[in-house]
Amino acid sequence: MEGDIEESKDIDQSTMSKRQRKRLQKRQFFVEHRKIKRKEKKERKKAEKRKLQAEKETEDGQEGVSSASDNLTNNKEKLFCEKKKKFRSMNSEHASSLRVAIDLSFDDLMTDRDIHKLLKQIQRTYSINRRADRPIQLYLTSFGGRSKTILDEIQCKYTSWDVHIKEESYGDVFSQEDVVYLTSDSPYVLSEVDESKAYIIGGLVDHNHHKGLCYRLAVERGIAHARLPISECVKLKSRTVITVNHVFEIMLLYSQTKDWKESLVQVLPARKMEGATENGGHKKTENGAQKDEIAEEETDKSIEGNDEYYSLQDLN
Ligand SMILES: C[S@@+](CC[C@H](N)C(=O)[O-])C[C@H]1O[C@@H](n2cnc3c(N)ncnc32)[C@H](O)[C@@H]1O
Repeated sequence: MEGDIEESKDIDQSTMSKRQRKRLQKRQFFVEHRKIKRKEKKERKKAEKRKLQAEKETEDGQEGVSSASDNLTNNKEKLFCEKKKKFRSMNSEHASSLRVAIDLSFDDLMTDRDIHKLLKQIQRTYSINRRADRPIQLYLTSFGGRSKTILDEIQCKYTSWDVHIKEESYGDVFSQEDVVYLTSDSPYVLSEVDESKAYIIGGLVDHNHHKGLCYRLAVERGIAHARLPISECVKLKSRTVITVNHVFEIMLLYSQTKDWKESLVQVLPARKMEGATENGGHKKTENGAQKDEIAEEETDKSIEGNDEYYSLQDLN
């Protein structure tokens, strides 16, 4: 991936559209930034190691060298154990009864590239749920379109995932009175998460090309809808339309903490925040739809920038 970017520096940008140039520059900035961050992290680790060793040597003389390295090994082991946190099944006694479904009925509205992005978001969602103390009942509904074909093509063994996979639409899986469609365009703010409900997230990566689509569909179908209390709790530099995995992670964290602000701050990328506002509750916004929205292009950054980034096949 980084090789592509290095090569792309030599590309004649004069033949590109303004949009293509902008996208390329954004990507180059991201890759450069990631390189610097990795280098800084490496240097920090080295410095910590040196400090630890020096402290030990001062305390214990030469003998300290071996015990300091023992300490380091112990720390590493601890870290490793934390990373390798035991998976908790949705069927376990610890699991939550809360249902959250990703509605995969929008495949025809997306390019293959965007479906890939969506699948990465689903992969991240799945991975987070598996490591949760109280995993949510995660559903994929309307599964059978292009996203299924892509998963089949890469021989992804999704049938063994700990997810409720349904070909039927969410309307056929849940009773209508239980359903709440999550959409940033709803005038209603989600104040509580009701464990008896089924919350639906639109499986859509659309770069704002289908603005208000999920809201319109929910209204047409007479389904309850709500938006997350983002603008009530935190101030963002950009849009409040967030990615599928971020919506899921916020729902998961809130179901455990019952604190919107805490959940939002934990999940949303820090660079997106301007600062926090008072915690909000039940409110109907004056003009209905939200005006400021988070850039969806963050999908790749937030997922690729994460240590838990795997390729789709790794889910097998
Ligand atoms: C990238 S958004 C898709 C935006 C799309 N234009 C639409 O009509 O919803 C993916 C999904 O995440 C959920 N979502 C994103 N931001 C949200 C917010 N602020 N509140 C509630 N749900 C949100 C919605 O379910 C949405 O369909």
